[in-house]
Amino acid sequence: RRMCLPVGGLLATLAVVVGTAVAFAPSPRITWEHREVQLMQFHQPGIFNYSALLLSEDKDTLYVGAREAVFALNALNISQKQHEAYWRASEDKKAKCAEKGKSKQTECLNYIRVLQPLSATALYVCGTNAFQPTCDHLDLTSFQFLGRNEDGKGRCPFDPAQSYTSVMVDGELYSGTSYNFLGSEPIISRNSSHSPLRTEYAIPWLNEPSFVFSDVIRESTDGAEGEDDRVYFFFTEVSVEYEFIFKLMIPRVARVCKGDLGGLRTLQKKWTSFLKARLICSRPESNLIFNVLQDIFVLRSPDLKEPVFYGVFTPQLNNMGLSAVCAYNLSTAEAVFSRGKYMQSATVEQSHTKWVSYNGAVPTPRPGACINREARAANFSSSLNLPDKTLQFVKDHPLMDDSVTPIDNRPKLVISDVNYTQIVVDRTQALDGAVYDVMFIGTDRGALHKAVNLKSSVHIIEETQLFPDLKPVQTLLLSSKKGRKFVYAGSSSGVVQAPLAFCGELHTCVDCVLARDPYCAWSPATAACVALPETDGPRRDLIQEMSGDTSVCPDKIKESYRQHFFKHGDTAELKCSQKSNLARVVWKFQNSGLKAESPKYGLVGRKNLLIFNLSEGDSGVYRCLSEERVRNKTVLQVMAKHVLEVKVVPRTPVPFTSPAVRTEGGRITPKVSAGPTQGSSPQTPAVRATTPRAIIPSSSAVPTSMSRKPKTVSSVVSEVHSEKTVYLKSGDNRLLMSLFVFFFVLCLCLFAYNCYKGYLPGQCLKFRSAVLLAKKQPVSDLSDCEPSAKETLVEQGSFSQQNGGQPKPALDTGYETEQDTMASRLPTDREDSQRIDDLPVRDRPFDVKCELKFADSDADGD
Ligand SMILES: *[C@@H]1O[C@H](CO)[C@@H](O)[C@H](O)[C@H]1NC(C)=O
Ligand SMILES: *[C@@H]1O[C@H](CO)[C@@H](O)[C@H](O)[C@H]1NC(C)=O
Ligand SMILES: *[C@@H]1O[C@H](CO)[C@@H](O)[C@H](O)[C@H]1NC(C)=O
Ligand SMILES: *[C@@H]1O[C@H](CO)[C@@H](O)[C@H](O)[C@H]1NC(C)=O
Ligand SMILES: *[C@@H]1O[C@H](CO)[C@@H](O)[C@H](O)[C@H]1NC(C)=O
Ligand SMILES: *[C@@H]1O[C@H](CO)[C@@H](O)[C@H](O)[C@H]1NC(C)=O
Ligand SMILES: *[C@@H]1O[C@H](CO)[C@@H](O)[C@H](O)[C@H]1NC(C)=O
Ligand SMILES: *[C@@H]1O[C@H](CO)[C@@H](O)[C@H](O)[C@H]1NC(C)=O
Repeated sequence: RRMCLPVGGLLATLAVVVGTAVAFAPSPRITWEHREVQLMQFHQPGIFNYSALLLSEDKDTLYVGAREAVFALNALNISQKQHEAYWRASEDKKAKCAEKGKSKQTECLNYIRVLQPLSATALYVCGTNAFQPTCDHLDLTSFQFLGRNEDGKGRCPFDPAQSYTSVMVDGELYSGTSYNFLGSEPIISRNSSHSPLRTEYAIPWLNEPSFVFSDVIRESTDGAEGEDDRVYFFFTEVSVEYEFIFKLMIPRVARVCKGDLGGLRTLQKKWTSFLKARLICSRPESNLIFNVLQDIFVLRSPDLKEPVFYGVFTPQLNNMGLSAVCAYNLSTAEAVFSRGKYMQSATVEQSHTKWVSYNGAVPTPRPGACINREARAANFSSSLNLPDKTLQFVKDHPLMDDSVTPIDNRPKLVISDVNYTQIVVDRTQALDGAVYDVMFIGTDRGALHKAVNLKSSVHIIEETQLFPDLKPVQTLLLSSKKGRKFVYAGSSSGVVQAPLAFCGELHTCVDCVLARDPYCAWSPATAACVALPETDGPRRDLIQEMSGDTSVCPDKIKESYRQHFFKHGDTAELKCSQKSNLARVVWKFQNSGLKAESPKYGLVGRKNLLIFNLSEGDSGVYRCLSEERVRNKTVLQVMAKHVLEVKVVPRTPVPFTSPAVRTEGGRITPKVSAGPTQGSSPQTPAVRATTPRAIIPSSSAVPTSMSRKPKTVSSVVSEVHSEKTVYLKSGDNRLLMSLFVFFFVLCLCLFAYNCYKGYLPGQCLKFRSAVLLAKKQPVSDLSDCEPSAKETLVEQGSFSQQNGGQPKPALDTGYETEQDTMASRLPTDREDSQRIDDLPVRDRPFDVKCELKFADSDADGD
């Protein structure tokens, strides 16, 4: 039974991985590229591997341990370096290291691995030091190493590639790492002058562990039980209890007691309180078992009765990039250690050992228990007094049979297509008083996910690209100071500091509410999405609705629009700045709809509409609508409105590939008439700017994220919804679409063939005349523009221009202005406030001519 469960699960995991694992994956609602949001960063030229972070909240200083260097940074703005100290491996040590076959350029350097507070004026620092781990004290007043040159064996790994964890508890360093050059001897130890302790070097104790995290859990303050402080270690190791054709990994939590002094004879200078148990993180209904622990965060909060461990896990065979978050109550783990069954090895068939549940008598005092009041009452005042029977038992039975189960018996979050590496959790109170645990999770591609559990479903509020070079997030740290909380992330390339929310980037009330971000609320007074103050008081007049119910937003009847002028034959790109990945973008043209020739339209980046080979018939009002489902409601917003006018050029027709706009020095210059030869030049800027971008979204079930390669599909997908309207959708099933397009083309072919053969003379004639009529009848939708508002811009360059009460050249400010019209009853207005100067070349408006008009309001707001 014991063997079947995980093995079957793993096989099922593989099956799921090749199957439809994406079906349940939530995707981040908003994706922030690195340049889109304000992040503070630190990187010292020539220094890499920023893997150790330590925050001093009272000094507002972030200490960073990197390769051969330690820095002190201003914790409020890590771009401001306060101090630096270098600790390079000596040439002599490097030479010895290289002799042993290690790389002098990468491995034989001093990677800082331990960075712990020793006192108010000193840090305890250990580094790999060219495969000779060494520890030193860093004096914080002079910010210099004292040169103590302590042997760091057992505290710091030899090899920078090996795992490590450490925690300083009352001046004594507890660490988990490997003890030898080869990394084959794992150890959990305490470096203490009065009682250094370590684990037995035996497979049942530690079996090829990969250390992840360690922390101290103080004895409960309320219960005056005379209990002991415990130090918890988290790691993944090779299973002894389950056998499989390959090494099966098992995530573990282990615990030692601070008061442990080792045994007198048995377990001399060894832990007498070392017990470990399996951590369970699985989703039985989909047979997913997450058996590799990546990171743990201990959430402590005054309103939590006990600390909660949040862990990120991945499956062992992770070709799909599945990740999960599981949370555990401390008491669940404690119960396993203090009341659970032990496991024991049994020899079967002479040589083979098998681990089974131990059902015999357990000696007293209970093996592995901390010395508490009860033990003291029984005259066991320290581990040195413990009877041999107890010590021998714990030496042979360090593994518990019971497992530590997660809260609610299931993961808080399961996601595919992303490998989670690190986690921190902040507990915050929303406007309505509800408390949320907000998870900040780092990925192996330099991004940070922010997720929250909302009424039984998980919502990934946003994804932020912290590291543009896509390096894995190796360390995450959360500052806990009220009012100025930040997330700090370290990678091999640098350190980044991010605020907990980017409320200011959400520009409308609907956006602010749909974000369902407990840190953000809409302020009607300032018409801005603001960070919710952590104290009461000014919270009163704010709007926040964690259910995503946008009806709380004040009705908006404003609708701004932009007007564009194009030449015949140009290619137009109409922008729609919809940030939400959960929304579907739908383009509408007039009420009579787009014409159905599919090569005419394209979507760029799932949002922006491309119209090729413009003709007079393309003039009119284009609207970009976003449809977002929140729970069982669909919220519809008009994201952008474009009024397009195509002008006839009385000269030779412009080739279809001619550039609509080119940019020089950050300014938009109009395309001045394109010669007929231009289409033949393969170097034409517009060709390069537009054609590679014909990215049509694939199935919306696949979460988009900047950490994934964009899928480029060469065909343009369009769909006829009614005879009147043609939508370009971002979320359609590609297979259905292909089938549809295939049959459509087939029908067309049949029709054309029959036409050609003259089998259908009546219909054929009708069709031909219809086509001819349509060509002769240019649609003008600007006929009822207010003529008084017409104004011509003088500047030679031009551009998309939003109408405003006082029209002004778009390039003067770099901003588009906004026009109020009674255009729509939708509770929305979405201004495109991105600066033109900030836009990459390809995102700039294409528009060419220099006129500016008021367009008619068109009141079909849906
Ligand atoms: C150290 O940083 C370099 C440069 O980013 C990277 O290639 C290397 O893998 C890192 N090494 C470790 C052990 O993190
Ligand atoms: C952080 O410090 C850097 C360097 O002094 C400065 O350029 C930057 O403006 C600061 N950022 C903030 C948000 O204060
Ligand atoms: C670690 O042990 C060494 C030698 O046993 C001792 O000199 C040093 O002070 C100890 N460090 C800590 C932090 O306990
Ligand atoms: C996740 O990691 C595995 C290897 O550990 C890799 O094969 C896979 O491509 C990664 N997935 C993503 C989405 O990064
Ligand atoms: C503990 O030791 C004291 C004195 O050494 C003795 O009087 C007492 O009976 C002992 N108690 C137990 C429970 O053994
Ligand atoms: C974890 O603790 C919370 C309260 O702190 C409790 O509501 C919940 O039932 C506990 N879960 C488990 C699995 O013990
Ligand atoms: C552009 O449209 C015109 C009709 O408006 C048509 O004659 C011409 O062939 C089209 N050009 C291309 C490249 O599709
Ligand atoms: C949406 O859900 C709410 C409760 O969650 C329910 O009261 C309501 O009837 C549902 N509406 C629809 C259209 O299903």
